[in-house]
Amino acid sequence: MTEKAYTKVIKDVPKAVSRRNFIKGVITSGVAVSSLGYLFRAAPLAHGQQLTAGVGERLITLNVNGQQRRVDVMKQETLASTLRYKLGLTGTKLGCDRAECGSCTVLIDDIPHYSCSVLTHTVRGRKVVTIEGLASADGTLHPVQQGVIDEQGFQCAFCLPGFIMTTVGFLTTNPNPTRLELANGVSGCLCRCQDYDKILTALMRGAENSGRSKLG
Ligand code: FES
Ligand code: FES
Repeated sequence: MTEKAYTKVIKDVPKAVSRRNFIKGVITSGVAVSSLGYLFRAAPLAHGQQLTAGVGERLITLNVNGQQRRVDVMKQETLASTLRYKLGLTGTKLGCDRAECGSCTVLIDDIPHYSCSVLTHTVRGRKVVTIEGLASADGTLHPVQQGVIDEQGFQCAFCLPGFIMTTVGFLTTNPNPTRLELANGVSGCLCRCQDYDKILTALMRGAENSGRSKLG
């Protein structure tokens, strides 16, 4: 590519242009696609400026389970993916990956969310808690976790983290639920083993444990 053509390509890249349109423009203007890698690396970025939709700030800091975690995150990456595949927090399960089963539920600022349907970039500056972050530093289980053990909860337990995280979030605003209220509270979670009655018994025990631990 001649220096003149290279300069023209640089000038022709509007700030908000999509990568697809940019590539289309490059091809139709006759510039070799093989020069794209060089072009993206070589073009200087002003402070905070993003050149294309696929290249932005990727190395971010997340507050997960009380720790500041630096992680390289793509723009379209979901929190569930980041937690499992970048931070090694595989307690968060991926079932449907489309906001239907609740297996991936985590707390964001104490509110349960389906992490498969939350973009990781959107939780910067917020507090994320996963099942790994519930127990105390000395290893004492959260009262809801203990309730599951007390009742020898769950069959295969794939859905367990989602149910527990949802219950913990629910109890912050409904500390003394009836069985029916708790059933409604966790109704966004599905169990493939259909072990619902036993699960609810375990979660109710967790709610009772929680109430007791607050009384001291
Ligand atoms: S995996 Fe997120 S709701 Fe099913
Ligand atoms: S206990 Fe197996 S999916 Fe719920």
